[in-house]
Amino acid sequence: MEKKLKSHGAWIGKWTFILAATGSAVGLGNIWGFPYKAGTNGGGAFVLIYLLCIVMIGVPIMISEIIIGRRAGNSPINAMKRTALDSNSSSLWRLVGWSGITAGVLILSFYSVIAGICLNYIFIAAFPSEVLTSSDQFGAVIASPLNLLFWHTVFMLLTFLIVSAGVKNGIGRMVKILMPMLGFLLIFMVIYAMFNGAFVRTLEFLFAPDFSSVTAETFLSAMGQAFFSLSLGMGSIMAYGAYMPKDQKVVPTSFTVASLDTLVAMLAGLAIFPIIFVFNLEPNSGPGLVFVSMLSAFNQMQFGQIIGTFFFILLSIAALSSSISLLEPGVAYLSEEGFLSRKYAALAISLFAWSLGIGTALSFNLLSEFNLTPGRNFLDSMDFIANQILLPLGGMMIAIFVGWFMNKELITNEVGYINPIIYKLWRFFIKYIAPISVASIFISQIL
Ligand code: PHE
Repeated sequence: MEKKLKSHGAWIGKWTFILAATGSAVGLGNIWGFPYKAGTNGGGAFVLIYLLCIVMIGVPIMISEIIIGRRAGNSPINAMKRTALDSNSSSLWRLVGWSGITAGVLILSFYSVIAGICLNYIFIAAFPSEVLTSSDQFGAVIASPLNLLFWHTVFMLLTFLIVSAGVKNGIGRMVKILMPMLGFLLIFMVIYAMFNGAFVRTLEFLFAPDFSSVTAETFLSAMGQAFFSLSLGMGSIMAYGAYMPKDQKVVPTSFTVASLDTLVAMLAGLAIFPIIFVFNLEPNSGPGLVFVSMLSAFNQMQFGQIIGTFFFILLSIAALSSSISLLEPGVAYLSEEGFLSRKYAALAISLFAWSLGIGTALSFNLLSEFNLTPGRNFLDSMDFIANQILLPLGGMMIAIFVGWFMNKELITNEVGYINPIIYKLWRFFIKYIAPISVASIFISQIL
């Protein structure tokens, strides 16, 4: 007999799911991660591979995660287990849920440090330094372990508070007004960059692929970024799918979320690189890219103080609507099993992620010479293990499960009526294209 699991409450109305899933997807990954990874990986070719990964791997897997999550109505571990059992498959599929929760905690640990820097930048933009250049400013921010730890703590606390309030009250409401506002502000920044930055050079940099520098590493990095940006492979979307109304269409919804996410990443690139080029900054300067470039722009423009403050507030909120979805799968699991109340589950996991985050905070200063994995400092190692190994692996297993093991009737019940050609295409992508692409990128990296 299966034991009865606690329920978590449902989203109200179909826009709420789209906004929450978009809130999860759109975050630091788009505005901090995408531009700096495109920059360190040479630009256009990375962007092209990234886009291919979104379409060929990301969207099909997003559809699959929602299907599993909504049908089961549980946290990813139990959702995988129940769906597998109902499909006469092994309950070991629940390990996919475990790997997801692990990835979520690893990501949350460094996500909170970077989001903490965004919080700090709200004040830096509001009260700009008269003497420091924006590069030196970023250097000063990351040089101080105490400063990074302070903001990391504030951000983790906010994440904890929202998740412990529960998804219905905490998550749904916030994203509704603020996400569209962030979108508008980004469009404004792109227009600004168009007139004041090196826009043509940016278009070439981002959209004229130069394949000469592409390596196996570029593929892995672009694929990891696609998973990360769409919040896939770790159960965030699956956990949110559990709260999606039954009459909402899975396939169009996934396309909407993926398109919005991709749009924001592109806008971020178009807003940031013109500034980078016009100030002769390095496009491959790494994690400081968005902070340095945006601050340079705000320091130059009229009303830059106000616009800049507003920008970093919205960016912090976008990060918050993602970080809560990193915490949610683990919290949903612990609380539905009855191990801990939602509040204590959220406290336990966020405390753990917080401690792990200390390593990332120190990797910018005291531990900058310390490599946790060969050639990678603490932040890069966390990013590598989670984004480039666990997420694609989790995503591949989900694709294999839905493509080859999950009961067909269960799938069609969830998908509902949809154009048969689109359905067949999705089946083909999820059975063959997605798993084979992930596997071959892994294999080529190992070779
Ligand atoms: N997609 C989020 C971002 O781009 C990060 C995230 C990854 C959230 C995985 C949930 C799960 O910032």
